[in-house]
Amino acid sequence: MNLKVVLPLGMAAMVAVTALTVYPTQSVSADVALKDTMKIVEARFNEDGAVNRPDGWREWIYVGTPVTPNALNGGNAPFPEFHNVYIEPSAYKVFEATGKFPEGTQIAKELVLTYGKDGANPDGSTDEVSGTGYFQGEFAGLELTVKDNKRFPDQPGGWAYFSFGHQSQPYEKTAKAFPKETCNSCHEASAKNDWVFTQFYPVLRAAGK
Ligand code: HEC
Repeated sequence: MNLKVVLPLGMAAMVAVTALTVYPTQSVSADVALKDTMKIVEARFNEDGAVNRPDGWREWIYVGTPVTPNALNGGNAPFPEFHNVYIEPSAYKVFEATGKFPEGTQIAKELVLTYGKDGANPDGSTDEVSGTGYFQGEFAGLELTVKDNKRFPDQPGGWAYFSFGHQSQPYEKTAKAFPKETCNSCHEASAKNDWVFTQFYPVLRAAGK
């Protein structure tokens, strides 16, 4: 979709019905409309500054799954083991149109253990019908990052990082932001696009410009 194209009023109005508030005067450029009027679904914070666990993150836009098996990381990967990453859909729409993560972006990373511990090979892989490899087992944790420069002026890039526990479900209901040294500095040093590891997310690489 070429978003630089100037949409006639009829089409712009249709877009407006689905997600946007578009000024009902004349032709409007869709990327201007997206940047200026798209409402980003924001994280819910409590008075004590803790963020609430998002609802329905598995229905967000799935972007990719790095995998760091414990068996390949001295038995103790920092983030065991599959990392399923999802971006909140309204932020994805803006990223798709502009290549930038808007203020309010939420990205969740859910940890999933590899399948079949008992039958596992020394490298943690298992032999399944489709071949030898790594398959997803049980859910094992949930993390979230939120870009909010107003709320987190001390976090480089405005990205704050949260964990709802490395544990099986239920996850914690709320989480406080980690100090920037704990999480943000590694992202700042190595992530490809605005503190986000887009180099490992084929869906975002395909979507962003
Ligand atoms: C040693 C470097 C490092 C540290 C420290 C780190 N991360 Fe990450 N993080 C990564 C990498 C690499 C990825 C890319 C996906 C993956 O492999 O999990 C990532 C991805 C993420 C994502 C998905 C969105 C994105 O930015 O790509 C979240 C959410 C996240 N990390 C949360 C955290 C939290 C919470 C902490 C602190 C407890 C933390 N990270 C600390 C390396 C790090």
